[in-house]
Amino acid sequence: MMNIDQALPLLGGLSPREFMRRHWQRKPLLIRQAIPGFKPSLSITDIRQLVKREEVESRLIWRDAKGWNMKTGPLSKLPPQKQANWTALAQSVDLHDDATAALLRQFRFISDARLDDAMISIASDGGGVGPHFDSYDVFLLQAHGKRRWRISQQKDLTLIPGMPLKILQNFQPEDEYVLEPGDMLYLPPHVAHDGIAEGDCMTISIGFRAPTEATLACGMLEAANDQIMANLGDIGGFYATPVIPGPVLSDTYKDPGVAATETPAALPGGLVDAALAAIRKLQFDEALAARFLGQWLTDLPENADFDPSSDDLDLAQDFPPSGELVLDRCTKMMYWNDSLFINGEVAPVTAGPLLRRLADERRLDCSPALGAELTQVELALMTEGLEDGWLHYSA
Ligand code: SIN
Ligand code: CO
Repeated sequence: MMNIDQALPLLGGLSPREFMRRHWQRKPLLIRQAIPGFKPSLSITDIRQLVKREEVESRLIWRDAKGWNMKTGPLSKLPPQKQANWTALAQSVDLHDDATAALLRQFRFISDARLDDAMISIASDGGGVGPHFDSYDVFLLQAHGKRRWRISQQKDLTLIPGMPLKILQNFQPEDEYVLEPGDMLYLPPHVAHDGIAEGDCMTISIGFRAPTEATLACGMLEAANDQIMANLGDIGGFYATPVIPGPVLSDTYKDPGVAATETPAALPGGLVDAALAAIRKLQFDEALAARFLGQWLTDLPENADFDPSSDDLDLAQDFPPSGELVLDRCTKMMYWNDSLFINGEVAPVTAGPLLRRLADERRLDCSPALGAELTQVELALMTEGLEDGWLHYSA
């Protein structure tokens, strides 16, 4: 695992602990040669090909005499590199390229729950997305050519109305940096910025995500809803023990002895009370929050996909004495206490120390000792992972 107290070139000589304390969500950081001698795994030509693909989310942004323009992908034809003032952006390249996924993992001193994706932009001279701000933290890693970044901590974040993209009305740059390959700029949310390509340019944005309160609250309500429905069981009946820990709301409203009414259109007060009493039975507790978050945060994007493995290795039968088990680049695996979440589902096993290690390190070294330590259910789960392709074995 990563030593969070070790000074890293990636963070300009700060340790992850120091970076998180001083800069994360607080202030920008320019890092010269964050990755010395950085060579991107994908070339400008590769990205020109990538944005043509149906499963890759992409945008083309260009500026002309009339202003800003945007087209969403797939982008079958990009302008030539020698035509100025355009940029093409490919979202979540980490889902499609192993080396980009590995680059993203260098930032795992921040939890997976916050890490979002690696976006790659290519641009011709003068290209960029215009002065804007983002709601999330971002590391902007220069991958090829040069980009001139101007940034501002201005309070005025008014946008020009009626634009196809977010453009600040009154951008007043305070600092300016020209980034070369391997240089990186960290920006917390809401710092205004504008990056303009100087010649052919490629920039990789390591992006984060942060849910709104509304998303969290709605997610909790949905999880409570799932919990209620799961525990109601089949028509007419309900299970003796809850399928998902929590209340079984199977009682029917009763009103023996209720008075005759002269106002039949009025809602019975007893029914209003019963609705309130039912909702009070819900337990909005940590278990429910973890269940919602674990499933939601490991949910796979639509464009993620696994290659089911061709070799059928049964780990319970013959556990490999060497080699390693590695999570697929698209696999999302998180845990909370005993609960384990894999690719949007609650795993049918307890999150024991070995499965937690697999989630944290994304790999396990195989050995006879490991084979003996893993339980039958863990071996079965991992064998299923190999079959489905969310886990791989490499000798
Ligand atoms: C870019 O790569 O040009 C856009 C990154 C950003 O400003 O958020
Ligand atoms: Co931005």
